[in-house]
Amino acid sequence: MPAITATAPGKVILFGEHAVVYGRPAIAVPVNQVRARVVISADPHSAPGRVLVRAPDVGLEAELGELPEKHPLAQAILGTLKAFGLERMPACAVRISSTIPVAAGLGSGAAVSVALIRATATFLGQRLPAERVSALAYEVDKLYHGTPSGIDNTVIAYGLPVYFIRGQPIELLKLPVPFTIVIGDTGIQSPTAIAVGDLRRLWQEDPGRYEALFDAVGVIAQAARRSIESGKPDELGPLMNENQVLLAKMGISCPELDRLVAAALSAGALGAKLSGGGRGGNMIALVRSEAAASVAQALERSGAIRTISTSVRLRAQ
Ligand code: MEV
Repeated sequence: MPAITATAPGKVILFGEHAVVYGRPAIAVPVNQVRARVVISADPHSAPGRVLVRAPDVGLEAELGELPEKHPLAQAILGTLKAFGLERMPACAVRISSTIPVAAGLGSGAAVSVALIRATATFLGQRLPAERVSALAYEVDKLYHGTPSGIDNTVIAYGLPVYFIRGQPIELLKLPVPFTIVIGDTGIQSPTAIAVGDLRRLWQEDPGRYEALFDAVGVIAQAARRSIESGKPDELGPLMNENQVLLAKMGISCPELDRLVAAALSAGALGAKLSGGGRGGNMIALVRSEAAASVAQALERSGAIRTISTSVRLRAQ
């Protein structure tokens, strides 16, 4: 049997991170330049159920049975088996790799889950629609942080721009006019769970203040959807700037992110904001395509350890 390979893209949140955890709408798009990749090869010489899991990027090499049941990689494989009413895998080796920076707001955890769930299903001779892949990945994401909204697993499993409201059926965005964003990485790892937990405590202390901030973010996400779907992506620039102000008020930005946002705007970006969990990780800037290189250079001069320019469109090219 030939080896099975499955991949999944990274993602950025254009509007609405954090407020989406509290039921407000958000917009996210896949980032195809970075991907998680899983290769599963059958091992006909070992006993059924013997599964060797290797993730060299994180220094992991272990038998599936040795991993705690709540380990995200174990949960992705076991959850997929269970979805098909199976108890164990045929003997195999699972190799996991990813070019998506970890704890940087680009959906690395969800992308690994989605690629692993897809590869496991295919290896078992089964097919899983995006909706079920997304639901299984959501269960894994809950292990990374207790209260995920579900936006990461959704945008990554579908691989398409989404307008997302927690608990509601997914809405794919119409995107008549593509646009370009530059992503800048502060290089600061910032686990989403910590930022989400801190914000939850602040919200519990002063729900009125934070509900008002989340409402304002929700209004921005709705306006952004109208701009995207009516083919006026330039209008997203000011909306990004407003979203960034609200995220800063929630305590989710940090000096390094603020510096990159300012650098992008000085270099001619139409708007800029942090993206994802914040407190580090990545920011995004909306640019005219001809300005992408100079904005990326400005970000690098201001401390970004990596930049990615990506065209946001309906299908990957
Ligand atoms: C993380 O990519 C986005 C957050 O809104 C958390 C979530 O939606 O679960 C910060």
